[in-house]
Amino acid sequence: MSELRCEQLRHVYSAGTPFEKVAVDCIDLTFPQGQLVGLIGHTGSGKSTLIQHLNALLTPTSGRVLYDGRDINENKFTRRDIRHEVGLVFQYPEYQLFEETVYKDIAFGPGNMGLDKNEIDERVTEAAGFTGIDRELFERSPLELSGGQKRRIAIAGVIAMRPSVLILDEPTAGLDPAGSRQLLENICAYRAETGSTVILVSHNMDDVARIADRIIVISGGNVFMDGTPAEVFADPEKLVSQGLDVPKATAIAMKLREYGVLPEGSVCTHEQLLAALSSLREVPAC
Ligand SMILES: Nc1ncnc2c1ncn2[C@@H]1O[C@H](COP(=O)(O)OP(=O)(O)O)[C@@H](O)[C@H]1O
Ligand SMILES: [Mg+2]
Repeated sequence: MSELRCEQLRHVYSAGTPFEKVAVDCIDLTFPQGQLVGLIGHTGSGKSTLIQHLNALLTPTSGRVLYDGRDINENKFTRRDIRHEVGLVFQYPEYQLFEETVYKDIAFGPGNMGLDKNEIDERVTEAAGFTGIDRELFERSPLELSGGQKRRIAIAGVIAMRPSVLILDEPTAGLDPAGSRQLLENICAYRAETGSTVILVSHNMDDVARIADRIIVISGGNVFMDGTPAEVFADPEKLVSQGLDVPKATAIAMKLREYGVLPEGSVCTHEQLLAALSSLREVPAC
């Protein structure tokens, strides 16, 4: 079991210059093993800065990040090792593919870990399976493939390191609805099968409401809300006041409550909206 924790984490860009910016402001968070966490918030709220601390790509201005109780920035060895335990998939990761074949791109991370050829092969095959990449593509150049396929290859390259925590920054950005849904299904299946922690940065409230165990709302570099989807979306006005979206089902339930059709109660998925509607014996005319 592994636990990732931020203690009083703070990050200031360009400190001491006119461009100084507090991007993360004293965040305390614990990510227990196996949780699927949705991280949401406005552009510029500090999500990407926060997650880059979780595998030591950024060093805190103050505060600490602990993995199983140990400071990941303790020395250069802990910083190197954490990158194998906490895998980070950047936004638009397909721009970072550079090998001449799909196989080599997925194998790059495990190769860097010093694993032998058979172990690398096993991991590449497994990671391709999780991300829905056909073996027939292994010898093709990633450059010949579609945007969606390239993104799956980039994600497979991180999964192939078998991290215990997988962090994805806006993994469905720019994909069509079918491609997004399929990729999220793959990610959910990966979590279910491996028991990995997954932290998903997303703008799509419907997606996080549907798949996350827990939602953390970041605002101005702070944790604004933290709870189950039902807890977070039980107070949709609080999110709307921050200019954030709510899931479509929550927005419809808010309107129906305004008209006196629905009683109070948290609604964040289509299924919950249907259940709330079908529990009404009589719908008053509005
Ligand atoms: N490399 C950087 N140098 C200076 N400021 C930055 C840098 N990266 C991000 N910022 C600023 O830090 C804040 C948080 O950014 P970011 O973590 O990218 O937020 P998000 O991922 O939620 O959009 C923003 O105001 C952004 O402009
Ligand atoms: Mg970002």
